[in-house]
Amino acid sequence: MRMIGLMSGTSLDGVDAVMADFDASGRPRPCGHIHSPYSAELARTLRGVNADTPLAHTLMLDARLAGVYAAAVESLLKATGSARSQVSAIALHGQTLWHAPRAEPPVTCQAGDPSRVAEATGLPVVADFRQRDLAAGGVGAPLAPVFHAALFGADQRRCVVNVGGVANLSVLAAGGRAERGFDTGPGNALMDAGARRYLDAAFDRDGAWAASGRTDPAFLAQLLADAYFERPPPKSLDVKTFDQHWLDGHTGQPARPVDRQATLLALTAETIASAIERWGGEPRDVVITGGGAANTALCRALNHRLGDDRPLLTSDELGIPASQVEALGFAWLGRAALRGEPVDLTSITGARRPIILGGIYPA
Ligand SMILES: Nc1ncnc2c1ncn2[C@@H]1O[C@H](COP(=O)(O)OP(=O)(O)O)[C@@H](O)[C@H]1O
Ligand SMILES: [Mg+2]
Repeated sequence: MRMIGLMSGTSLDGVDAVMADFDASGRPRPCGHIHSPYSAELARTLRGVNADTPLAHTLMLDARLAGVYAAAVESLLKATGSARSQVSAIALHGQTLWHAPRAEPPVTCQAGDPSRVAEATGLPVVADFRQRDLAAGGVGAPLAPVFHAALFGADQRRCVVNVGGVANLSVLAAGGRAERGFDTGPGNALMDAGARRYLDAAFDRDGAWAASGRTDPAFLAQLLADAYFERPPPKSLDVKTFDQHWLDGHTGQPARPVDRQATLLALTAETIASAIERWGGEPRDVVITGGGAANTALCRALNHRLGDDRPLLTSDELGIPASQVEALGFAWLGRAALRGEPVDLTSITGARRPIILGGIYPA
């Protein structure tokens, strides 16, 4: 079975589209990838969505994103030379505009109208993965641990950390079962905001700018005092929890922007490492994936913090490029939905029972 997975996360960098072939055992093999960046204007518009955004504006974004996703599918088909008829379906994560798992009732919204994507591409679309988990009593995220288990499960205990806009951790038991998974805190988003403001760049390449600054221990301690980090899992983050507003709410900011950037990098590394210490159950190693895996300064800091007993590997070292893991994972979830296979997130999101995740929009 051949699937296309489309992932666009909270970094708002764009969409990763992956082609994946599944063998009989259900193991995916990636066989093509493109990254289609959002325009600076679209990213800015998406960043500006908040509780006061008019519904009409949100619906326009929903339609506009569908066009972006359909175009990404066409580019991927072209790049891989794959025939449309060989593809069973598209698995579409969508763009999270709102995620409030602790609101009453809990709500989440991934934009990018699947009906339009199905109509434009002529392919079935599986979408609305998080909605169904919320409906079943889960916190809607992270969903990744179940496919991290399928991709990276090993004989020994292992943790997988995906560093996107926020960072999420998967705790895999020996034998590969996903035991637990949760958002640890900020990933790249706060660092990206610093790069936009002071480097006029989308991100700090290799973390080089952050690495040229000095961590401010007092400021770091203040940031680490946020109650979220103490809260036991299951937990997932509202899209706006750790944003510029949160950061600006702290006093005693380092005088130099570069030191603030260094402190933000240390915050990401520290919150991941301490989450592994608290809830990771003594893993033999830690696999890093997502865009953060390309941030060499972050990897260095995390590796140092984890120590020699828990080596840090990139998913590339295990055969799957870090930029493709999440899109591949949604292809995996989409295949499960097409086959009517329930996914067990009970120990991860707190869903009441294993559920078939995602709605199917026929071609
Ligand atoms: N070479 C690099 N150096 C530093 N950071 C990088 C590099 N490449 C990607 N990133 C980071 O990864 C982010 C994108 O990661 P991604 O996994 O797509 O996150 P999301 O799932 O939130 O979209 C970028 O915004 C940037 O912060
Ligand atoms: Mg991305």
